[in-house]
Amino acid sequence: MSDRAPGSAWSQHDPGGLEPIRVRVELGERGYEVLVGPGVRRELSSCLPPGARRATVVTQAGIGVDVDPGVPCQVVTIPDGEKAKSLATVEEICRFMARGDMHRSDVVVAVGGGVVTDVAGYAASSYHRGTAVINVPTTLLGQVDAAIGGKTGVNLPEGKNLVGSFWQPLGVLCDTETLAGLPAREWRSGHGEMAKYAFLGVEDLDSLSLAEQVARCVACKAEVVASDEREGGRRMILNYGHTLAHALEAAGFASEDASSSEAELRHGEAVGIGLVFAAELAQLMGRIGTSRVERHRGVVSGYDLPVSLPPGADPATLVQFMTRDKKSAGGLTLMLDGPGGVEPVHEVRPELVHEALDALRGDR
Ligand SMILES: NC(=O)c1ccc[n+]([C@@H]2O[C@H](COP(=O)([O-])OP(=O)(O)OC[C@H]3O[C@@H](n4cnc5c(N)ncnc54)[C@H](O)[C@@H]3O)[C@@H](O)[C@H]2O)c1
Repeated sequence: MSDRAPGSAWSQHDPGGLEPIRVRVELGERGYEVLVGPGVRRELSSCLPPGARRATVVTQAGIGVDVDPGVPCQVVTIPDGEKAKSLATVEEICRFMARGDMHRSDVVVAVGGGVVTDVAGYAASSYHRGTAVINVPTTLLGQVDAAIGGKTGVNLPEGKNLVGSFWQPLGVLCDTETLAGLPAREWRSGHGEMAKYAFLGVEDLDSLSLAEQVARCVACKAEVVASDEREGGRRMILNYGHTLAHALEAAGFASEDASSSEAELRHGEAVGIGLVFAAELAQLMGRIGTSRVERHRGVVSGYDLPVSLPPGADPATLVQFMTRDKKSAGGLTLMLDGPGGVEPVHEVRPELVHEALDALRGDR
């Protein structure tokens, strides 16, 4: 069955949920399929590169998702949280692979959230100068975002994601069954990214199955990535809502791992606040009207995400961090909504940024 819409990356759609939904990331010889649906991790063995003799599965202790690559397989478990996204973990994974006699023709399988797929992807991209990786994302955020598009990387003490590569996976298996045990905060975090997609054209997901919702977001990301693999321009729109989110994270309002207290924000929760901020700012700049701002607030709060700055957040500090965000090439560059949709807007005046932040103080 194929119901491919013109220009759409969403190539198959099974409303009954029996067949996986297939989304193609069109990148020529680096192109691949994302399979979405309950149980799709069982397709793993059919996704292996020809000639792979063994596999290394990279995962975390609390995840508990079993996969069967259909070839001899060893499992390496990495620690939890942002601290695991380090060069030390990459070394640990690569040494584990070397001891297991893994070659370039073999395959790495990343089973986990964005931390696992980012670090395993980077290890795969450098092991033997490039070994295939298949992603099996097990968080909502991983399925709609982190596992797709080939950005891999680790953190340095000097900043997040400073070392990495563009290394496209060979395939991605978004098994919605694996989300059954996901903690509520992680669902909320994933919903922050889904709220972002609502302003990139993915709306009215409510009546759809979970697999269809995930697939619609994946199709959006696939289309953007296919048009700008290395983030020369358009791919930056995927950072919508992220400039303030990164500033909140850098200013210490976010948790580094899943053991977050109620007061600490998970990444997607910070993105929710960032979306409302971006809408307020776009309105101040005359790019959108009140109803569009209310739409932002409605979508974000509809996902039970915060729409106000956390108590104690200092606008001056946040502006400082936003100016340092690596997406800005001098001055303040933000992704903002407008008549032509979300796009990068350069040289945004700091006083308007302060004014927009003021609109986010306390619940309105
Ligand atoms: N490469 C990209 O394009 C991209 C995009 C967005 C985010 N990211 C990165 O993703 C990371 C965040 O990813 P995340 O939100 O998935 O967090 P995460 O990977 O830290 O996972 C959150 C927690 O959920 C646990 N978990 C994972 N799957 C589970 C399951 N099925 N059941 C129960 N627990 C489970 C994990 O062990 C972890 O404790 C950040 O480091 C961010 O930089 C990367």
